[in-house]
Amino acid sequence: MRVHEVSGAAETIEAAPAKINLALHVTGQRADGYHLLETLVTFTEAGDTIRIRDADTDTLSISGPFGDLLRTDDGGDNLVTRARDRLRDALAATGQSGRPVAIHLEKNLPVASGIGGGSADAAATLRALLRHWQVTIEPERLASLALTLGADVPMCLESRPLIARGIGEEIEPVSDLPCLFLVLANPLKAVATPDIFRRLQNKTNPRLPAHATIGWVDFLAQSRNDLQPPAQTLLPEIGEIIGMLSQEGAALVRMSGSGATCFGVFHSFDAACKAETSLRKKRPGWYLQATRTI
Ligand code: C5P
Repeated sequence: MRVHEVSGAAETIEAAPAKINLALHVTGQRADGYHLLETLVTFTEAGDTIRIRDADTDTLSISGPFGDLLRTDDGGDNLVTRARDRLRDALAATGQSGRPVAIHLEKNLPVASGIGGGSADAAATLRALLRHWQVTIEPERLASLALTLGADVPMCLESRPLIARGIGEEIEPVSDLPCLFLVLANPLKAVATPDIFRRLQNKTNPRLPAHATIGWVDFLAQSRNDLQPPAQTLLPEIGEIIGMLSQEGAALVRMSGSGATCFGVFHSFDAACKAETSLRKKRPGWYLQATRTI
């Protein structure tokens, strides 16, 4: 039977790695209100997963520890389904088509937490559908489609170390960033990105240091996340997280994106795992994850 043939078709699996802003400088603001950034971004083994199979109609199912926080019945207002629909429209404009698919999202990352989440899922959906449908789209067209889904989606399409400028759409790959051993920590309180930007006092901060002239250790020491002070005002727990990651021996502790997730950089994966275990005993209600960058 055709239905069985279709449902037996191969599954396409795509990782949606967490996005970590190792440094994020706000350097200005556009006329439309969006903020100009310079950010050093990397991605981790920790992340969500997208799975795609052929189906009779389009569906989205969600599982995973943070799956309950996402609704699937909101009329398509979900970054995964939006990515699917916009890609299909873009393909139609070039005479290609995308057949109906059942998409499954395994939501392992906390929602609205500064580490990509929805943007990573949208980008992974685009990558997975291109493979699943065996179609191609010009890279520039794909990047601009990604940007319509969110400022962080173009960088999540890359999912490798990079420096992003503009509102995130000007991407310069970074080839020599070493593997970092991180602990991600979040108090499981979502923060709304627009609220953090609205509280930002200074919108014209210094640019990122020039990484060609200094090593990455100095680069990280001399950079910051300009969104950290306004986020900490809104959510004082961020200060507590920073202090606790430092106490566990992290060489560098900083917030990612607009928060509230903070990361600690450890000297080895073993040290990161020990810190995760220790913090889990002290704060059982937090999201805590030792991971490596990819
Ligand atoms: O594009 P995205 O959905 O990720 O952005 C969410 C909100 O965050 C925007 O509507 C805007 O208020 C704010 N934002 C900003 N400058 C950026 C990115 C986001 O002001 N570069």
